[in-house]
Amino acid sequence: MERILIESGDEVACEIILSRGAARSAEVVMPPQPGRDRVALFAQPGSMQVAENLHDSFTAAGRHSELKLLPDREAAKTLAVAEECYLWLNSLGMTRSDAIVAVGGGAATDLGGFIGATYLRGIETVLVPTTLLGAVDAAIGGKSAVNVGGKNLAGVFSHPARVIVDGDVLADLPEELLIEGTAEAVKAGFIADPGLLDLYASHGLAAPIDEVLSRAIRVKADVVSSDFTETGQRIVLNYGHTIGHAIEHVAGIPHGHAVAIGMVAAGAVSESLVGFADAVAQRNLLASLRLPTVAPPDLELDAIEATLRLDKKRDTSGVRMVLLEEFGKPVVETVDTTTVRAALSAVGIA
Ligand SMILES: NC(=O)c1ccc[n+]([C@@H]2O[C@H](COP(=O)([O-])OP(=O)(O)OC[C@H]3O[C@@H](n4cnc5c(N)ncnc54)[C@H](O)[C@@H]3O)[C@@H](O)[C@H]2O)c1
Ligand SMILES: [Zn+2]
Repeated sequence: MERILIESGDEVACEIILSRGAARSAEVVMPPQPGRDRVALFAQPGSMQVAENLHDSFTAAGRHSELKLLPDREAAKTLAVAEECYLWLNSLGMTRSDAIVAVGGGAATDLGGFIGATYLRGIETVLVPTTLLGAVDAAIGGKSAVNVGGKNLAGVFSHPARVIVDGDVLADLPEELLIEGTAEAVKAGFIADPGLLDLYASHGLAAPIDEVLSRAIRVKADVVSSDFTETGQRIVLNYGHTIGHAIEHVAGIPHGHAVAIGMVAAGAVSESLVGFADAVAQRNLLASLRLPTVAPPDLELDAIEATLRLDKKRDTSGVRMVLLEEFGKPVVETVDTTTVRAALSAVGIA
């Protein structure tokens, strides 16, 4: 069992446990504690089996566990679903000494984190990510939100007590979910851990999952420990996301794909502004992980630029972007329109 701690000052804000089989163990997920009677579990369709196994483990240990199925994907991240969940928790007679566990991808852990931080003004919360994106990104870092007329517009910064990352659950994901999460895992390598890049270069998508999880989660946990509320260093996690988000928005492609294309574009900007020498190596590595490195055909440059102008990371003189001086050395720069245009052209948007 490996433990990674997120610290806030001298305190441990969140404990991340990486262990095969952990998600099947009531003992690990929620150690028994005097006065803690009930555990309420939330799951989405794709994580229901994992949640049922955990529910059985609680029940077998003689503990009171209840399980609720959430709508799938973004349909879970609404205030209406949150209210339904609060009312369900009321009906169970939950108190502040009880606890909730959200089991699933980022949509389920975002909703679970939001409920856990707000119900009774905060109740002990455990997240059990069951997608790679959830494990290396969404469940780590204490940000959670629901969608209100726009994505993630109502939310909180509040760490769960524990995050349980079970390699057995994440070892054989459907390929689509593996590739999606790999974009964020390899991003962690680009910004902070060249050793993770070596692992991907040697093994491609078959990279040993336990080591991928450990390395990528450490990167995010370290960054979040140094800047919980996103006033400084945390911005490096947005590598590839400025242009990536614009492409995701305009083209409607999956987040991980858009971020991969965004990283190629950021690599091109890095090459021209801060002497990054590995733009080609970065693109080849992404391609070897079956991530796209050029935008879908026929994307309108105007539409991408209009979206970038709306992006909150832009100021009047250009677009704020995370760049790489080299692998593991991110810098934040304001990038002028001409350079952004050249980077968009490098990913086929002209
Ligand atoms: N809070 C944060 O810091 C943060 C960071 C990144 C992303 N996010 C959020 O994460 C969400 C995306 O998360 P996601 O990519 O995990 O998608 P998701 O939660 O929407 O899940 C995708 C699909 O995978 C299924 N699924 C879950 N576990 C599975 C498993 N083990 N096997 C097979 N299918 C499984 C789900 O049922 C769903 O159909 C977005 O809402 C995004 O805003 C949050
Ligand atoms: Zn992302």
